[in-house]
Amino acid sequence: MDASAPRGAPPPPGGGAPVSGDRDAAAAESGTAQTVSTFYETHPYPPPIESLDAYRQSWDDARRRADAALFWPTQGYRDDRRILVAGCGTSQAAKYAVRWPRAQVTGIDVSQASIAQTQRLKDRHGLDNLQLKVMPVERASDLAGEFDQVVCTGVLHHLPDPDHGLRALREVLAPDGAMHLMLYAPYGRTGVYMLQDYCRRLGIGSTSSEIHELASALGMLPREHPLVPLLHNMRDFHSEAGLADALLHPQDRAYSVPQMFDLLAGAGLEFGRWLRQAAYLPQCGLFASSPHRSRLEQLPASEQYAAVELFRGSMVHHSLVAYRNDYARRPSLSFDGDAWLDYVPIRLPETIAVQKNLPASAEAVLINRSHTCTDVYLPVDARQKILFDRIDGARTIRDIADRDSAVDSDSAVDDAALPIARTLFEQLWNYDQVVFAMPREANEHAPSSTLSMPEGNLL
Ligand SMILES: C[S@@+](CC[C@H](N)C(=O)[O-])C[C@H]1O[C@@H](n2cnc3c(N)ncnc32)[C@H](O)[C@@H]1O
Repeated sequence: MDASAPRGAPPPPGGGAPVSGDRDAAAAESGTAQTVSTFYETHPYPPPIESLDAYRQSWDDARRRADAALFWPTQGYRDDRRILVAGCGTSQAAKYAVRWPRAQVTGIDVSQASIAQTQRLKDRHGLDNLQLKVMPVERASDLAGEFDQVVCTGVLHHLPDPDHGLRALREVLAPDGAMHLMLYAPYGRTGVYMLQDYCRRLGIGSTSSEIHELASALGMLPREHPLVPLLHNMRDFHSEAGLADALLHPQDRAYSVPQMFDLLAGAGLEFGRWLRQAAYLPQCGLFASSPHRSRLEQLPASEQYAAVELFRGSMVHHSLVAYRNDYARRPSLSFDGDAWLDYVPIRLPETIAVQKNLPASAEAVLINRSHTCTDVYLPVDARQKILFDRIDGARTIRDIADRDSAVDSDSAVDDAALPIARTLFEQLWNYDQVVFAMPREANEHAPSSTLSMPEGNLL
């Protein structure tokens, strides 16, 4: 598989003849952009929804705090940021306006049909904090001002020149802003690209009847076909708009981990973290007991992720947080030194503690329900569970580990508590159980040193 070539992309306009010269390239780019925007006029994505009432219910203050700490762990909680949702589709910008009522949200998209649908949601829910514009991401700098958060999910991989699009978004990102990107990943989408090629060869278009025919043909795929697991697991295959988006898209390329890192570097961005990271880490899930774990851990982080993507083989997209490469105080989390004791753990909303059918000596198994890899779960013993239960989104790790802090701040120190707390909270972090609100000082790169004993009483 050649993962470096655009995958599943149609031949360039003009029957695949090589394009040469800036004017030809620009013409090809604008032709592809036109084809993509026409596609989304006919197939607005995601399938339109009428109401955001249920969505509103799912966002409370605890969830907002967890979300803020994920993107801006060192900046303190704020809920009034400026947010750009680039390529917002039919509902994403309205959802952001609902989930952050005090934020200023701007949604842009090339599809008038999608913006019109978002406008309906804005009107219905009285979203005065939402502005909408029909505009390509490539022209984001025409918008006034800069943004604390730029959200661009499921869009860049459809652009004729994703590097250009991402550079344009970087231009409007505030110096200490955070970007949320989602890009297709190649290996897990192998079956999608096979079917895209199949549809192209058969000249299958995206009329309603052709999509219905395609849907019924997919039911006949041999069980061994690489698309079959995705048919069950991907929401996209459960609607007409989703099916068209997945299999009949005129422009679609995917990014392996190294390609994604190159894309970020080319746009002046730096990787911050995966939105959900456990599946990429050699410390988690099946890799924790792999004979290759120590080899993996000796690699730089980006190489670890690249290797894990190859071994897992089933990742269909990459969701990540990125920062400007000139953001000097980029969040940097470390469990070396003792700065971690002042981190405030905040539980992620999709997490649950299961207490049935447990492995030996486990008091609970901690699961993040957004994980799709079934090997990624964290058993904790009784002592760890006590610490876990003390997380309240306000106490630091130091306070959580300090058994007597509420009663007597001068009671004796238990030497064994520190390593237990450090191992647990690092695991909770790795396994996407918590994010941390970090004090500003902890933002500096902590020196690698052995753990020193802090003041206070631990466990
Ligand atoms: C797959 S949808 C994703 C929608 C939304 N971001 C989400 O995650 O639900 C891709 C969206 O990108 C938009 N789009 C494609 N090319 C674009 C461009 N150059 N500028 C702005 N939007 C674009 C499409 O119209 C479509 O609404």
